[in-house]
Amino acid sequence: MEAQIIDGKAISRQLLDELKAEVESLESEHGIKPCLATILVGNDSASQVYVASKVRMCEQLGITSYNTVLPEETTEEELLEIIEKLNADPAVNGILVQVPLPKHINEHRILFAINSKKDVDGFHPMNVGRMVIGEPHFLPCTPHGIKVLLERSGIDPSGKHVVVVGRSNIVGKPIANIMVQKAAGANATVTICHSATKDIASYTRQADILIAAIGKPKFITADMVKEGVVVIDVGTNQIGVSSTGKRILCGDVDFENVKKKASYITPVPGGVGPMTIAMLMYDTVKSAKMMNGIK
Ligand code: GUN
Repeated sequence: MEAQIIDGKAISRQLLDELKAEVESLESEHGIKPCLATILVGNDSASQVYVASKVRMCEQLGITSYNTVLPEETTEEELLEIIEKLNADPAVNGILVQVPLPKHINEHRILFAINSKKDVDGFHPMNVGRMVIGEPHFLPCTPHGIKVLLERSGIDPSGKHVVVVGRSNIVGKPIANIMVQKAAGANATVTICHSATKDIASYTRQADILIAAIGKPKFITADMVKEGVVVIDVGTNQIGVSSTGKRILCGDVDFENVKKKASYITPVPGGVGPMTIAMLMYDTVKSAKMMNGIK
């Protein structure tokens, strides 16, 4: 068997086209232009690339972006002050602080400070709690993107064994929580594996749907999966730089070999990555509608 490739670029494009039409009608019918505020602190090169692509996507959709770039030595108090201003600004619908933050800043304290109604990243404890109890408002963008990828590929996780490898607050924990909910597009039996799990392969081989979010290139090899598995590769490991200065990315999955056993698989790049940005745009539009009392 050779796996069907899940084209995250094409699926995100559909979603972005729908959103662009929605942004246009928000402006023509209601005079509203959604606005996303991004904050980037420090010199992390991957974060710079991610924030730049979020800003570019805003431009393409007609969403206003308001970008704050701060030096590495910015203090927690300075950052909190900026967040307070954005919280209070009625023109701002979404606030995104790119993580990781420099080590001297307490990430939790910063994420807690964002108004949960503007927390388009879904990282605020109010939104995390709502997700866990099955009353979601904003979901974290990468796991939300995975859910939509599965839905739009006709893959229903209900009753399936979803094995998540990785327990980060951004991907592993939230996707496990989303998949276990008694809800459409979820309702799975979920196992989470992590760095202290003994014999990871004994779990990954049971997976009907395997979600790899470990951050180690080609960690998941063909002997670790069963025939017919659906593989979602969240890895974005930079393994080099091309002659034109572009980042060369490698997933957490040994794509060439695992695809021979899988029924579906996402590529890197072009799988989960584009969905993350699309869901951020989705949340920003959703926030603009909610803040203006539009259904
Ligand atoms: N760093 C890696 N992924 C994300 C994300 O989805 N949002 C933010 N704010 N930072 C990230």
